[in-house]
Amino acid sequence: MHTLAACVVPALRRTLWNLQMEYIDLYLVHFPLGVLPECPPSAVFAKDLVVMDMEGVWREMEECQMLGLTKAIGVSNFTCKKLDSLLSFAIIPPKTNQVEVHPYCRQDKLREFCKGKGIQMCAYSPLGANGTSWCSKVMDCPLLKQIALERGKTVARVCLRWVYEQGNCIIVKSFNERRLRENLGIFDWELTDVDQQKISTLLESRGCLDFFVHESGPYKTVDEFLDGEITGDN
Ligand SMILES: NC(=O)c1ccc[n+]([C@@H]2O[C@H](COP(=O)([O-])OP(=O)(O)OC[C@H]3O[C@@H](n4cnc5c(N)ncnc54)[C@H](OP(=O)(O)O)[C@@H]3O)[C@@H](O)[C@H]2O)c1
Repeated sequence: MHTLAACVVPALRRTLWNLQMEYIDLYLVHFPLGVLPECPPSAVFAKDLVVMDMEGVWREMEECQMLGLTKAIGVSNFTCKKLDSLLSFAIIPPKTNQVEVHPYCRQDKLREFCKGKGIQMCAYSPLGANGTSWCSKVMDCPLLKQIALERGKTVARVCLRWVYEQGNCIIVKSFNERRLRENLGIFDWELTDVDQQKISTLLESRGCLDFFVHESGPYKTVDEFLDGEITGDN
Protein backbone atom coordinates (compact mmCIF):
# COMPACT_ATOMS: atom_id res chain seq x y z
CA MET A 1 0.00 0.00 0.00
CA HIS A 2 1.28 3.48 -0.85
CA THR A 3 0.59 6.10 1.79
CA LEU A 4 -0.16 9.15 -0.27
CA ALA A 5 -1.64 10.86 2.75
CA ALA A 6 1.33 13.13 3.37
CA CYS A 7 0.83 14.69 -0.09
CA VAL A 8 -2.68 16.01 0.58
CA VAL A 9 -2.15 19.21 2.59
CA PRO A 10 0.88 20.31 0.49
CA ALA A 11 -1.09 19.59 -2.71
CA LEU A 12 -3.96 21.82 -1.58
CA ARG A 13 -1.54 24.55 -0.49
CA ARG A 14 0.05 24.37 -3.96
CA THR A 15 -3.38 24.57 -5.63
CA LEU A 16 -4.33 27.60 -3.51
CA TRP A 17 -1.06 29.26 -4.47
CA ASN A 18 -1.77 28.59 -8.15
CA LEU A 19 -5.30 29.93 -7.79
CA GLN A 20 -4.12 32.87 -5.67
CA MET A 21 -6.88 32.10 -3.15
CA GLU A 22 -6.89 31.66 0.63
CA TYR A 23 -9.36 28.80 0.68
CA ILE A 24 -11.68 26.80 -1.56
CA ASP A 25 -15.27 25.77 -0.86
CA LEU A 26 -14.97 22.03 -1.45
CA TYR A 27 -12.06 19.61 -1.79
CA LEU A 28 -12.64 16.08 -3.09
CA VAL A 29 -10.83 12.75 -3.14
CA HIS A 30 -11.20 12.20 -6.91
CA PHE A 31 -11.01 8.39 -6.98
CA PRO A 32 -10.60 5.64 -4.36
CA LEU A 33 -7.19 4.97 -5.86
CA GLY A 34 -3.60 6.11 -5.59
CA VAL A 35 -0.98 6.72 -8.28
CA LEU A 36 2.68 5.75 -7.97
CA PRO A 37 4.46 8.80 -6.50
CA GLU A 38 7.07 8.88 -9.28
CA CYS A 39 4.39 9.00 -11.98
CA PRO A 40 3.93 12.43 -13.67
CA PRO A 41 0.27 13.54 -13.49
CA SER A 42 0.14 14.09 -17.24
CA ALA A 43 1.08 10.47 -18.03
CA VAL A 44 -0.84 8.15 -15.71
CA PHE A 45 -1.71 4.67 -17.02
CA ALA A 46 -3.77 1.91 -15.40
CA LYS A 47 -0.56 0.07 -14.46
CA ASP A 48 0.48 3.07 -12.29
CA LEU A 49 -2.58 2.79 -10.04
CA VAL A 50 -2.05 1.58 -6.48
CA VAL A 51 -4.08 0.91 -3.35
CA MET A 52 -4.86 4.04 -1.43
CA ASP A 53 -4.45 4.49 2.32
CA MET A 54 -7.96 5.83 2.70
CA GLU A 55 -7.80 6.45 6.44
CA GLY A 56 -4.48 8.30 6.14
CA VAL A 57 -5.73 10.34 3.20
CA TRP A 58 -8.98 11.20 4.97
CA ARG A 59 -7.14 12.35 8.11
CA GLU A 60 -5.23 14.77 5.87
CA MET A 61 -8.45 15.87 4.17
CA GLU A 62 -9.86 16.61 7.64
CA GLU A 63 -6.68 18.53 8.42
CA CYS A 64 -7.25 20.64 5.27
CA GLN A 65 -10.68 21.63 6.58
CA MET A 66 -9.46 22.22 10.13
CA LEU A 67 -6.67 24.46 8.80
CA GLY A 68 -9.31 26.51 6.97
CA LEU A 69 -7.88 25.68 3.54
CA THR A 70 -11.28 24.34 2.43
CA LYS A 71 -14.79 24.91 3.76
CA ALA A 72 -15.85 21.30 3.15
CA ILE A 73 -14.42 17.95 2.08
CA GLY A 74 -15.91 15.11 0.06
CA VAL A 75 -15.25 12.18 -2.22
CA SER A 76 -15.90 11.15 -5.81
CA ASN A 77 -16.56 7.78 -7.45
CA PHE A 78 -17.20 6.06 -4.11
CA THR A 79 -19.56 3.09 -3.80
CA CYS A 80 -21.85 2.40 -0.80
CA LYS A 81 -19.26 -0.07 0.49
CA LYS A 82 -16.39 2.43 0.29
CA LEU A 83 -18.49 5.18 1.88
CA ASP A 84 -19.43 2.81 4.70
CA SER A 85 -15.77 2.07 5.31
CA LEU A 86 -14.86 5.78 5.22
CA LEU A 87 -17.66 6.66 7.66
CA SER A 88 -16.36 4.04 10.11
CA PHE A 89 -13.29 6.17 10.85
CA ALA A 90 -14.17 9.69 9.63
CA ILE A 91 -14.25 12.42 12.26
CA ILE A 92 -15.58 14.83 9.63
CA PRO A 93 -17.92 12.89 7.32
CA PRO A 94 -17.80 13.64 3.57
CA LYS A 95 -20.21 16.41 2.53
CA THR A 96 -20.66 15.04 -0.97
CA ASN A 97 -20.06 12.07 -3.26
CA GLN A 98 -19.58 13.17 -6.89
CA VAL A 99 -20.53 10.34 -9.27
CA GLU A 100 -21.80 9.75 -12.79
CA VAL A 101 -25.57 10.32 -12.93
CA HIS A 102 -27.86 10.63 -15.94
CA PRO A 103 -31.00 8.82 -17.17
CA TYR A 104 -28.92 5.77 -18.17
CA CYS A 105 -26.92 5.73 -14.93
CA ARG A 106 -29.48 6.40 -12.23
CA GLN A 107 -27.56 5.26 -9.14
CA ASP A 108 -30.74 4.71 -7.10
CA LYS A 109 -29.10 2.47 -4.49
CA LEU A 110 -26.17 4.85 -3.95
CA ARG A 111 -28.50 7.86 -3.77
CA GLU A 112 -30.61 6.21 -1.06
CA PHE A 113 -27.47 5.29 0.86
CA CYS A 114 -26.08 8.84 0.63
CA LYS A 115 -29.39 10.35 1.65
CA GLY A 116 -29.52 8.14 4.72
CA LYS A 117 -26.02 9.25 5.74
CA GLY A 118 -26.54 12.96 5.04
CA ILE A 119 -24.16 12.96 2.07
CA GLN A 120 -25.19 15.14 -0.90
CA MET A 121 -24.90 13.28 -4.18
CA CYS A 122 -23.47 15.39 -6.99
CA ALA A 123 -24.02 14.35 -10.62
CA TYR A 124 -21.18 14.49 -13.12
CA SER A 125 -21.59 13.78 -16.83
CA PRO A 126 -25.35 14.54 -16.53
CA LEU A 127 -25.56 14.58 -20.35
CA GLY A 128 -23.65 11.31 -20.50
CA ALA A 129 -20.36 13.13 -21.32
CA ASN A 130 -21.86 14.15 -24.65
CA GLY A 131 -19.33 14.16 -27.48
CA THR A 132 -16.66 11.98 -25.85
CA SER A 133 -15.61 8.56 -27.13
CA TRP A 134 -17.05 7.01 -23.95
CA CYS A 135 -20.31 9.01 -23.99
CA SER A 136 -23.44 7.16 -22.95
CA LYS A 137 -25.52 8.15 -26.00
CA VAL A 138 -27.92 9.94 -23.65
CA MET A 139 -28.49 12.73 -26.16
CA ASP A 140 -29.51 10.22 -28.86
CA CYS A 141 -32.00 8.34 -26.68
CA PRO A 142 -35.36 8.01 -28.53
CA LEU A 143 -37.33 8.05 -25.26
CA LEU A 144 -35.68 11.27 -24.07
CA LYS A 145 -36.24 12.79 -27.51
CA GLN A 146 -39.93 11.88 -27.30
CA ILE A 147 -40.30 13.38 -23.80
CA ALA A 148 -38.46 16.52 -24.97
CA LEU A 149 -40.90 16.86 -27.87
CA GLU A 150 -43.92 16.45 -25.60
CA ARG A 151 -42.66 18.96 -23.02
CA GLY A 152 -41.41 21.47 -25.62
CA LYS A 153 -37.88 21.23 -24.17
CA THR A 154 -34.50 20.07 -25.46
CA VAL A 155 -33.09 16.63 -24.61
CA ALA A 156 -30.39 18.33 -22.52
CA ARG A 157 -33.05 20.08 -20.42
CA VAL A 158 -34.97 16.82 -19.95
CA CYS A 159 -31.78 15.11 -18.74
CA LEU A 160 -30.82 17.90 -16.39
CA ARG A 161 -34.35 18.28 -15.03
CA TRP A 162 -34.46 14.53 -14.37
CA VAL A 163 -31.12 14.65 -12.53
CA TYR A 164 -32.31 17.65 -10.51
CA GLU A 165 -35.63 16.00 -9.59
CA GLN A 166 -33.75 13.05 -8.11
CA GLY A 167 -32.25 15.45 -5.54
CA ASN A 168 -28.74 15.58 -6.98
CA CYS A 169 -26.75 18.74 -7.40
CA ILE A 170 -25.42 18.95 -10.97
CA ILE A 171 -22.17 19.80 -12.69
CA VAL A 172 -22.79 20.06 -16.40
CA LYS A 173 -20.06 21.41 -18.66
CA SER A 174 -20.30 23.63 -21.74
CA PHE A 175 -17.96 26.07 -23.43
CA ASN A 176 -20.87 27.48 -25.45
CA GLU A 177 -22.81 30.48 -24.10
CA ARG A 178 -26.10 29.48 -25.74
CA ARG A 179 -25.91 25.99 -24.24
CA LEU A 180 -24.89 27.39 -20.84
CA ARG A 181 -28.12 29.43 -20.86
CA GLU A 182 -30.11 26.46 -22.14
CA ASN A 183 -28.81 24.32 -19.27
CA LEU A 184 -30.10 26.81 -16.70
CA GLY A 185 -33.67 26.51 -18.00
CA ILE A 186 -34.78 23.62 -15.83
CA PHE A 187 -36.32 25.30 -12.80
CA ASP A 188 -39.75 26.47 -14.02
CA TRP A 189 -41.26 23.20 -15.24
CA GLU A 190 -41.51 19.53 -14.18
CA LEU A 191 -41.39 16.06 -15.65
CA THR A 192 -44.60 14.07 -15.18
CA ASP A 193 -44.86 10.87 -13.15
CA VAL A 194 -45.24 9.01 -16.45
CA ASP A 195 -42.01 10.58 -17.78
CA GLN A 196 -40.23 9.52 -14.57
CA GLN A 197 -41.60 6.01 -14.81
CA LYS A 198 -40.53 5.63 -18.45
CA ILE A 199 -37.01 6.90 -17.72
CA SER A 200 -36.69 4.40 -14.87
CA THR A 201 -37.01 1.59 -17.44
CA LEU A 202 -33.97 2.60 -19.52
CA LEU A 203 -31.25 -0.05 -19.49
CA GLU A 204 -28.48 1.12 -17.16
CA SER A 205 -25.01 1.77 -18.55
CA ARG A 206 -22.16 4.01 -17.51
CA GLY A 207 -19.07 5.69 -18.89
CA CYS A 208 -15.92 3.70 -19.50
CA LEU A 209 -14.20 2.61 -16.27
CA ASP A 210 -11.62 0.40 -17.98
CA PHE A 211 -8.94 2.95 -17.22
CA PHE A 212 -9.18 2.11 -13.52
CA VAL A 213 -8.72 -1.63 -13.80
CA HIS A 214 -5.52 -3.51 -14.49
CA GLU A 215 -4.36 -7.06 -13.85
CA SER A 216 -1.60 -5.80 -11.54
CA GLY A 217 -3.60 -2.93 -10.03
CA PRO A 218 -5.81 -2.71 -6.92
CA TYR A 219 -8.91 -3.46 -9.00
CA LYS A 220 -8.71 -6.26 -11.57
CA THR A 221 -12.20 -5.77 -12.99
CA VAL A 222 -14.83 -3.03 -13.24
CA ASP A 223 -17.04 -5.18 -11.01
CA GLU A 224 -14.32 -5.11 -8.32
CA PHE A 225 -13.89 -1.35 -8.72
CA LEU A 226 -17.64 -0.93 -8.16
CA ASP A 227 -17.74 -3.46 -5.28
CA GLY A 228 -20.29 -5.50 -7.20
CA GLU A 229 -22.73 -2.58 -7.02
CA ILE A 230 -23.27 -2.81 -10.74
CA THR A 231 -26.64 -2.61 -12.40
CA GLY A 232 -27.67 -3.12 -16.01
CA ASP A 233 -25.20 -3.76 -18.81
CA ASN A 234 -22.13 -1.97 -17.42
N1 LIG B 1 -15.33 13.36 -10.58
C1 LIG B 1 -15.10 12.72 -11.71
O1 LIG B 1 -14.51 11.64 -11.74
C2 LIG B 1 -15.60 13.32 -13.01
C3 LIG B 1 -15.65 12.52 -14.16
C4 LIG B 1 -16.14 13.07 -15.34
C5 LIG B 1 -16.54 14.41 -15.36
N2 LIG B 1 -16.45 15.17 -14.23
C6 LIG B 1 -16.85 16.61 -14.28
O2 LIG B 1 -18.22 16.72 -14.57
C7 LIG B 1 -18.46 17.86 -15.39
C8 LIG B 1 -19.40 17.50 -16.51
O3 LIG B 1 -19.14 16.24 -17.05
P1 LIG B 1 -18.74 15.92 -18.55
O4 LIG B 1 -18.07 17.09 -19.17
O5 LIG B 1 -18.08 14.61 -18.54
O6 LIG B 1 -20.11 15.65 -19.28
P2 LIG B 1 -21.48 16.43 -19.60
O7 LIG B 1 -21.63 17.69 -18.81
O8 LIG B 1 -22.51 15.37 -19.51
O9 LIG B 1 -21.27 16.76 -21.14
C9 LIG B 1 -20.47 17.82 -21.56
C10 LIG B 1 -20.56 17.86 -23.07
O10 LIG B 1 -21.89 18.14 -23.45
C11 LIG B 1 -21.94 19.26 -24.31
N3 LIG B 1 -23.12 20.04 -23.91
C12 LIG B 1 -23.28 20.83 -22.82
N4 LIG B 1 -24.51 21.36 -22.78
C13 LIG B 1 -25.14 20.90 -23.89
C14 LIG B 1 -26.45 21.08 -24.42
N5 LIG B 1 -27.35 21.86 -23.81
N6 LIG B 1 -26.77 20.45 -25.59
C15 LIG B 1 -25.88 19.67 -26.22
N7 LIG B 1 -24.62 19.43 -25.76
C16 LIG B 1 -24.26 20.05 -24.60
C17 LIG B 1 -20.65 20.00 -24.11
O11 LIG B 1 -20.23 20.57 -25.33
P3 LIG B 1 -20.06 22.17 -25.52
O12 LIG B 1 -18.96 22.61 -24.60
O13 LIG B 1 -19.70 22.30 -26.94
O14 LIG B 1 -21.38 22.79 -25.16
C18 LIG B 1 -19.69 18.89 -23.70
O15 LIG B 1 -19.14 18.29 -24.85
C19 LIG B 1 -17.10 18.35 -15.86
O16 LIG B 1 -16.85 19.59 -15.25
C20 LIG B 1 -16.11 17.28 -15.40
O17 LIG B 1 -14.90 17.82 -14.92
C21 LIG B 1 -16.01 14.65 -13.06
